Amino acid sequence: MISLPFDVSWRISFPFSVKREKAHPDEVHQELKSRASPWERAAQLNQLIQKPKAQTESFDFAILGDSEPGRFWIFRKLFNEPAVFTKHLLSLQNLSPDFVFQLGDMVSRGTPENYLRFFRALSETPPPAPYLTVIGNHDRSKPNGKSHSKLYRSLFGSKTNYFFDRGPVRLIILDSSRAKLTRAQLRWLHLALNTPLKKIVLTHMPPISLRFWNDLPISCRGGFVRGSKAFTEIMAKYKVDRVYTGHIHAFAVCDHQGVRYVLTGGGGSPLFPSGVADKFYHSLTVSVSSNGIKDKVNLLNGESFRVPEGKVVLNQFKP
Ligand SMILES: [Fe+2]
Repeated sequence: MISLPFDVSWRISFPFSVKREKAHPDEVHQELKSRASPWERAAQLNQLIQKPKAQTESFDFAILGDSEPGRFWIFRKLFNEPAVFTKHLLSLQNLSPDFVFQLGDMVSRGTPENYLRFFRALSETPPPAPYLTVIGNHDRSKPNGKSHSKLYRSLFGSKTNYFFDRGPVRLIILDSSRAKLTRAQLRWLHLALNTPLKKIVLTHMPPISLRFWNDLPISCRGGFVRGSKAFTEIMAKYKVDRVYTGHIHAFAVCDHQGVRYVLTGGGGSPLFPSGVADKFYHSLTVSVSSNGIKDKVNLLNGESFRVPEGKVVLNQFKP
């Protein structure tokens, strides 16, 4: 509380003056381990293995983009709406997806306290299907600069690059949380994409070279730099059906070298000015069948719209 030289009839407090009692690290660690355990990747994938799908079967899955609440209270105040992530989780109940992906940046910074808060929210409103994650830069020990992903990996599983097959599609999860792709990752991509199945790639950051979905004549904020061009070339070479990315808190679509990239970063994080025109909270339903892949955008008010299948050409597009 702040003392004022005059009396006021209402209580005044500021975010930086709020003192919360901190739990002991051992207590946090213990509760975190027990709350995280059901969401470990192997356990979630095992649920899918128990209900296999033939290559001719179709199914829907859901994607939730960035949901971290914002590191700074002023951004939360200016650009955020509270409890959006929980609203998305509630809306999933009506969508009946086969599984759900969180596309990275589920916490503002990968600390035990933040993850504990996240898992509490998840267990209060559990998704109706197996829940899988892609690591984002905020899920690391620090969102920018030198950082590590030890805590994330201890909670969800040691591998941050992985793939699995489901019905007619292979889903490839790629770790771009360090704002770069290594040569080893690019080599791994060649192996992972070598399949006759349809191919979907999910990675937190978009490649920086996809600047043309920006509305402003400047580079779009965010995206991995090293490996960016090689990544888009590999996506084109293997005729990847979809690449889903987050990191930028907005929605956008672009077709590049015959590959459709969908930016879906509306899971609940502050809608900062980013240069991308369409900033709104949303989740995505992806319908997969042997005929192709269709995307539907779900809004918080319960409305939804299909993403057109034709080529999307934006104003800034320059081949
Ligand atoms: Fe991010």
